[in-house]
Amino acid sequence: MKAVFPGSFDPITSGHMDVLTRASRIFDTVTVTVMHNARKQGRHLFTLDERLEILRKATGHLENVGVDSFGGLLVDYMAQEQKGIILRGLRAVSDYEYELQIAHLNRQIGEVETVFIMAATRWSFVSSSMVREIASYGGDIREMVPRASADALRLKYADVYDERERTMSPASPD
Ligand code: PNS
Repeated sequence: MKAVFPGSFDPITSGHMDVLTRASRIFDTVTVTVMHNARKQGRHLFTLDERLEILRKATGHLENVGVDSFGGLLVDYMAQEQKGIILRGLRAVSDYEYELQIAHLNRQIGEVETVFIMAATRWSFVSSSMVREIASYGGDIREMVPRASADALRLKYADVYDERERTMSPASPD
């Protein structure tokens, strides 16, 4: 059975990685698909190409995992690519209502089933948006994201990180 793990992945987090790694042991193949919308392009921190590059690096060690992108309805992608199942991660009850709605709509408009994997509790408070927020102030996000995302965030906010490291490090002796 083939699964598609759709999302914005701006950038991929350790919670996503946990769900993806466990799904890769269940499904024959899992495709991580960045769903993008040309009209919402400016709303992301990373460009589509950057997100795909991060995903390729972060998932390179998972043999049956591929990376793709699509700019349209998820159900159209599922039909076009003849993929079987939509995979989504759930962190906490707060995710449930939104996910329930999307899963029902995708089944109604495209007859596609969604399977959920519960992210490990240690990632229940980690989201791409919170990681972006912390990184924008030069905070330490290395635990919360795979190496490829951490490197890309460090580069994106190089000035902020350099400045924070300079002001936080103990003064050098004269
Ligand atoms: O990572 P996200 O932002 O929670 O992912 C949401 C996503 C991209 C999976 C969802 O918005 C989506 O499937 N978008 C594609 C457009 C679509 O099919 N919309 C109808 C779903 S009701």
